[in-house]
Amino acid sequence: MYRIRIVDPSDDDIADTLAELHQLTFFDAAAMPRFDLGAWWLAYHGDDAVAFAGAMPSTHVRNGGYFSRVGVLQRHWGRGLQRRLMRAVEARGRRVGWDSIVSDTTDNPVSANNFIQAGYRLYDPEVPWAWAHTLYWRKQLR
Ligand SMILES: CC(C)(COP(=O)(O)OP(=O)(O)OC[C@H]1O[C@@H](n2cnc3c(N)ncnc32)[C@H](O)[C@@H]1OP(=O)(O)O)[C@@H](O)C(=O)NCCC(=O)NCCS
Repeated sequence: MYRIRIVDPSDDDIADTLAELHQLTFFDAAAMPRFDLGAWWLAYHGDDAVAFAGAMPSTHVRNGGYFSRVGVLQRHWGRGLQRRLMRAVEARGRRVGWDSIVSDTTDNPVSANNFIQAGYRLYDPEVPWAWAHTLYWRKQLR
């Protein structure tokens, strides 16, 4: 019912789709990411893109990735799309040889539960990069 694909954000239509999904899922709660950095995925329902995720090399852990963003349109919530997108990111992380993936959640129990279900665990980064009450997540890939 849903297909997940890694996409090429240098394609203008893809970049527009990512920006539109970001706006519709984060509103103004997070800055618009640079889609030319890192790797990006879209989840399609038929021809419609309904969710997205992004990851890039982490600047905080050695040889690891940073799961930077995920958003699902509200009418497609509850189908496990965040976890499916995480699996796609992990599969690529393993292919490119990352040792781990890190991420963070802030005031977001739904997303935090998805990190736990996907095998991420809380950890304390040496240099926390977000807010005082942000939770930091890490999953070893090997
Ligand atoms: C976080 C997010 C990606 C999760 O979407 P998802 O993969 O569809 O969520 P799940 O399939 O795990 O949903 C699990 C349950 O939580 C509910 N749910 C999902 N997102 C929810 C939200 N933002 N608020 C309240 N409930 C939510 C689902 O409806 C489902 O309920 P059910 O078990 O009664 O069916 C999505 O809420 C979202 O895009 N939020 C806005 C952007 C965001 O916060 N991104 C993450 C930043 S760390």
